[in-house]
Amino acid sequence: MAPKLNSLADYANRRFRFAGKSYLEHYDPFFVAIDAARQEAEAQGKHFVSFANYDYLGLAGHPAIKAAAINAVETLGIGVLASRLVGGERSTHKQFEKQLANFLGVESVMTLVSGYLTNVTTIAHIMGSQDAIFIDELSHNSIVSGAKAASSTTITFRHNDLDHLDHLLREKRDEFRHVMIIAESLYSMDGDIADLPRLVEIKEKHRAWLLMDEAHSIGVLGQDGRGLCEYTGVDPSQVDLIIGTLSKTFASCGGFIAAAKPVIDWLRYTLPGFVFSVGLSPVITAAAQSALQLVQKETWRVDKLRRNAELFVEVAHEAGLDTGPAIGRGVVPILFSDSYETVAASQHLIANGYYVPPIIQIGVPKNQPRLRFFLSASHTEEDIRGVIGLLAKRASRQSSPVQPATTPAG
Ligand SMILES: Cc1ncc(COP(=O)(O)O)c(C=O)c1O
Repeated sequence: MAPKLNSLADYANRRFRFAGKSYLEHYDPFFVAIDAARQEAEAQGKHFVSFANYDYLGLAGHPAIKAAAINAVETLGIGVLASRLVGGERSTHKQFEKQLANFLGVESVMTLVSGYLTNVTTIAHIMGSQDAIFIDELSHNSIVSGAKAASSTTITFRHNDLDHLDHLLREKRDEFRHVMIIAESLYSMDGDIADLPRLVEIKEKHRAWLLMDEAHSIGVLGQDGRGLCEYTGVDPSQVDLIIGTLSKTFASCGGFIAAAKPVIDWLRYTLPGFVFSVGLSPVITAAAQSALQLVQKETWRVDKLRRNAELFVEVAHEAGLDTGPAIGRGVVPILFSDSYETVAASQHLIANGYYVPPIIQIGVPKNQPRLRFFLSASHTEEDIRGVIGLLAKRASRQSSPVQPATTPAG
């Protein structure tokens, strides 16, 4: 008899083990409904601030984006009800893809229904059984899953250690037909960046392809928010594949691949996650298109985000808090020595109107729990000083026990 699926689905119990059962009975920081939490805080006369959302440029809820989405619902409906190849294409798909390609400075772009799917399907599709994929040890799960789904060999290099990558390639390159190096532009748990000029040099030296995941860097890095290529002065054509998402800076949902035109033309007819999945909804296409226009028109937003993130790091350091390797852009963690204290700090913040979920074990090494902050152009100096001030005060009276607070929602 097959084992019961329930015996595998022990997740809820593991979650308790991560942070201490008795603690999570008082405060469960996961699945907090932000709208309800905001309402509850405001009903108590508190200002509610979320540092949990990657709304980097503060565009979520922008009236122009809402109006574009409403107009798309009225003119084109919600779903496209087919793969784009066979009935799901709408005039707005290619229009948006062209505008995005122009913004990024690449030849061509194609969109898919999720950023996660984009990594999985692209990596698994391109890399075959005689090939090897070299990935950073802190790669996002969508990259790891793509590498697992591919029939190729996966080789892991130490986080951002390009000497290690170079060494591994020197030793192993000749065992394989094609080789792909995969790195992230801005790491979503640590807020540090990859050395793109060196990656380009290494990929050329070892005849490898380079895939950069720019999920967290578009809108964040570079003077105009064009990502790591702009930030480091690398011509985007030197990167073979750029993967991005519409769910962060573009305040919508979906993923995209940017590459040379012949590559995208080939993928449009062959990529399983594109060919065998529905086309992007006109509503979210319109929202992302409107966000893209705002990114280019309201260029002050990129600068405001940079100033906010720099202020956050500066104030955190003054308070003696550990921001790890973060460079001070869109993502900054505050590192803790144990999971219990991380959850307790998150609880303390939400009780005071700031939502910052703890990151314990899922997505980060077990011994590096943290509060991970997404900074936004919409945060104010008061929000930043307020949240750090609470953490600093808490750290200074570390020994006193935390009083369980009521959970605002979820
Ligand atoms: C580095 C990275 N790549 C890909 C994704 C997946 O993007 P999406 O959430 O839009 O599916 C994420 C999600 O946060 C990410 O952090």
